[in-house]
Amino acid sequence: MGSGIAEVSARAGYTTIVREINAEVLAKGRQRIEGSLGRAVDRGKLGASERDETLQRLRGTTSFDDFASCDLVIEAATENPDIKRKTFAELDRVCPPHAILASNTSSIPIIQMATATQRPDKVLGMHFMNPVPVMPLIEYVRTLTTSDETLERAKAFGESLGKRIIVSKDRAGFIVNFLLVPYLTEAVRMLEQGFASREDIDVGMMLGTSYPMGPFTLLDFVGLDTTLYIADILFDEFKESRFAAPTLLRQMVAAGYLGRKTGRGFYNYDAGEQPPSR
Ligand code: 3HC
Repeated sequence: MGSGIAEVSARAGYTTIVREINAEVLAKGRQRIEGSLGRAVDRGKLGASERDETLQRLRGTTSFDDFASCDLVIEAATENPDIKRKTFAELDRVCPPHAILASNTSSIPIIQMATATQRPDKVLGMHFMNPVPVMPLIEYVRTLTTSDETLERAKAFGESLGKRIIVSKDRAGFIVNFLLVPYLTEAVRMLEQGFASREDIDVGMMLGTSYPMGPFTLLDFVGLDTTLYIADILFDEFKESRFAAPTLLRQMVAAGYLGRKTGRGFYNYDAGEQPPSR
């Protein structure tokens, strides 16, 4: 997600600094962005000179100190509340007082990050969708402490990236995952109960409701671990059985079948399986 966010920001004309934990991860992220921009050039969506200018606007670092003159920071660290809180405390220390601090978390309450800083009025959620360069939405999350001014400034930034903005209150799942994750886990329950095959469920939703991907293709795309993590957060917050993660999902995550990123999820990509297409 981080590389996608950096790409859309730099493409929109912003000087963009990417901070990673080490040089190796930084180089991988840069490669991903170069690949994505290269594909955009090949498909005639981006000129070669725009690609070069975009890459010039992107700078990598492993130090927080390089954020000393930024206006907005979007955190996309691992979904771990302790890491997020430490990151926000550090950003609060180095960033100028006017800077907005946003989190791309899909599930952790934003107020936990806001209260790690001395500027809770300037903290909000900016939840991008995967793949970031393609999906036209950002879901903003306003906490009890986010000011109107912060929301308006952040909205202006999001719109300048060419995205539509929706605003949610600060509760688990926000808008999109509150609806999407129970749909995905319900599909897993359907498969677990032998009600239908993964292909028929996928084709059903793709051709029957015009979703671009069926639920198992999307689960593999988003990551089974990410989906399980969000399902557990939803269950923890609402304690309703409809949010409980199915055993099959939990076991697949334990087995390391996390989706496309590990070569195997509901479909076994390593063995040459492909999800059904339209
Ligand atoms: N980066 C950049 N561009 C990409 C891309 C990527 N990773 N993947 C696809 N694209 C571009 C292609 O270049 C192509 O551009 P073009 O139309 O100008 O040629 C366009 O997207 C369509 O790609 P394809 O023709 O290869 O494939 P599809 O038509 O199947 O589209 C898709 C791919 C956009 C991923 C589409 O299948 C889709 O919208 N799937 C659903 C994605 C979704 O639901 N995302 C949200 C997940 S939930 C989430 O992120 C929240 C989190 O908290 C869990």
